[in-house]
Amino acid sequence: MTIQERFYDVYTAFPGRIPHVEGVKTWAEFLAEKNGVDADQMAQAAYLHDLTKYEPDGWHHALFDKSGVPAWKALPPFMYHGYSASLIAAEYELDQVFIDAVKHHTTGRANMQTAEKILMLADKIEPSRPYPEAATLRDLATHDLEAAFKAMLHHLYGFDQTHGRLNAYNYETYAFYIPERVAE
Ligand SMILES: [Fe+2]
Repeated sequence: MTIQERFYDVYTAFPGRIPHVEGVKTWAEFLAEKNGVDADQMAQAAYLHDLTKYEPDGWHHALFDKSGVPAWKALPPFMYHGYSASLIAAEYELDQVFIDAVKHHTTGRANMQTAEKILMLADKIEPSRPYPEAATLRDLATHDLEAAFKAMLHHLYGFDQTHGRLNAYNYETYAFYIPERVAE
């Protein structure tokens, strides 16, 4: 089964979320081509990124135990799906950077590679995202990936702050890429 087939197999149960993932795939592919990243592998990473998002916590825990990474059970649960999907990604012939992109797409991290930035950004700006800044970020992303990535982090930092979602993982990303904002 290809990654795309596996995605559609799982998502027949969640048809309302297919446009989101297809939007991420389209934008991730487009930004990969523009920025010298393998667009085919980027598309595969997009199909994988939310593959396990609707599995219960116990399912993730069992996978982490079975895969020899029980410490991942201590992650904030909203991050489980990126980590579990990265274990599935490792079953396919993907370069490590695309596996890392899947793993870190929810919060990012310090020192991200271009493919990691592209997946995280595409996830937040694909056209079915309803918030008004998404359109501005898409415009910016078409000509300046780095600027769009930082502008997205500014937006997310505000959201995470007001919604009590700051944690050690996303804080690392903000402190690395937008230290001036974190110091405010
Ligand atoms: Fe997503």
